[in-house]
Amino acid sequence: MATLELSGVTAGYGATPVLRDVDLTVEESEIVGVVGKNGVGKTTLMRTVMGLLDPSNGTVSYHGEDLTGASADERARAGIGYIPQGRDVFPELTVEQNLRMGEHVNAGASRTRYEEIYELFPILEDRATQAGGTLSGGQQQMLAIARALVADPDLLLLDEPSEGVQPSIVDRISEDMRTINDELGTTILFVEQNLGVIRGMADRCYAMERGEIVDEIGGESLTDEDAVADYLAV
Ligand SMILES: Nc1ncnc2c1ncn2[C@@H]1O[C@H](COP(=O)(O)OP(=O)(O)OP(=O)(O)O)[C@@H](O)[C@H]1O
Ligand SMILES: [Mg+2]
Repeated sequence: MATLELSGVTAGYGATPVLRDVDLTVEESEIVGVVGKNGVGKTTLMRTVMGLLDPSNGTVSYHGEDLTGASADERARAGIGYIPQGRDVFPELTVEQNLRMGEHVNAGASRTRYEEIYELFPILEDRATQAGGTLSGGQQQMLAIARALVADPDLLLLDEPSEGVQPSIVDRISEDMRTINDELGTTILFVEQNLGVIRGMADRCYAMERGEIVDEIGGESLTDEDAVADYLAV
């Protein structure tokens, strides 16, 4: 049974839908990417999966259970973690306080993951007492990822992790996500425009144009740079 399955999902903010008839599946332990240019509806997709936006049509199922009407809180408790675009690190709180916020998001979690998180991101332990806002873009992304991991989610939703991260650190983020997937068994759905991150991280990806899934790229095709770049070029 798939970890996540969207079937015929149509969603938007007003009368005109942004997402149109989206079908998408993420199998257990997979890393699936959704690629597409600015404004195609990537964030809208993530918000719909998280339950921050209600679809006007279609269903969102998680481990075979229909979650379409469930609140974001309920989904978090069911094990879905969300790292929004722009990260939403609390700049005035310390790194440690930011991390602890992750516990409240998923109050039902049977365990926390501090040990693994500090092992993966030692910098967060070194900087524990420093204000979140003083970290670099890349470090803030690590903090946001770590915060979502604290409550031990089994599906992580990641919205443009490379945005605002200096190029030399970008590869590190895709490597870290691969490690998280490997070692913690976390299933990952992410959206991206950065070709390197997509190819470095995804097992498979969907291409989105104007709110519709127009292609699926996997295996061999993912190694073909042009196959992916076509959906990103302006
Ligand atoms: N809160 C909102 N209210 C109304 N329209 C919105 C809202 N948020 C996004 N939109 C519109 O929905 C469309 C899709 O936006 P969305 O943010 O999902 O795109 P995106 O693919 O994430 O873009 P980007 O790559 O820039 O992050 C755009 O036309 C955008 O203007
Ligand atoms: Mg977006």
